[in-house]
Amino acid sequence: MDATRLSSCGGNLQPLKYVIVNDKQLLVKVFDTLSWAVYLPNYYPINDEMPQAYIILLLYKHGRTPIHDASIASMSISMVAYDEGVGSCILASVDREKLRAVFNVPERFDVVLVVALGIQQKNHWWNLFRMKP
Ligand SMILES: Cc1cc2nc3c(=O)[nH]c(=O)nc-3n(C[C@H](O)[C@H](O)[C@H](O)COP(=O)(O)O)c2cc1C
Repeated sequence: MDATRLSSCGGNLQPLKYVIVNDKQLLVKVFDTLSWAVYLPNYYPINDEMPQAYIILLLYKHGRTPIHDASIASMSISMVAYDEGVGSCILASVDREKLRAVFNVPERFDVVLVVALGIQQKNHWWNLFRMKP
């Protein structure tokens, strides 16, 4: 959380708030609001690929640099997670109204992004086809 909490943001207005989810029942409810890998038909995480936690980024609606702030924050989480050996996926395909209802998110915030966190699948078959080093 420090990675994102201490990230810079426009005007230092600190428009992001975070919901940290690791409760088993809530993990299922969050999962039900997400769409995975839209260009891989029928792919979604299963079994030990399932996220172990989520960080939901809420953005104060009147922020001045919303996209920039949310992007920097989510990337900070991902990079530090990687450094700690934790896998992550930033998700924008979120059923925002459904997720808002789960956590009773006040109207003054947009649900902007969700970062899923879990155990890295280093030997996953999918990695064989990866283009990146
Ligand atoms: C802004 C943003 C939104 C994303 N939204 C989703 C999403 O809704 N669902 C998903 O499965 N992946 C999502 N991703 C993950 C990308 O698809 C993923 O980062 C990309 O395929 C590269 O894979 P890699 O991060 O493992 O290298 C998103 C990534 C970014 C940066």
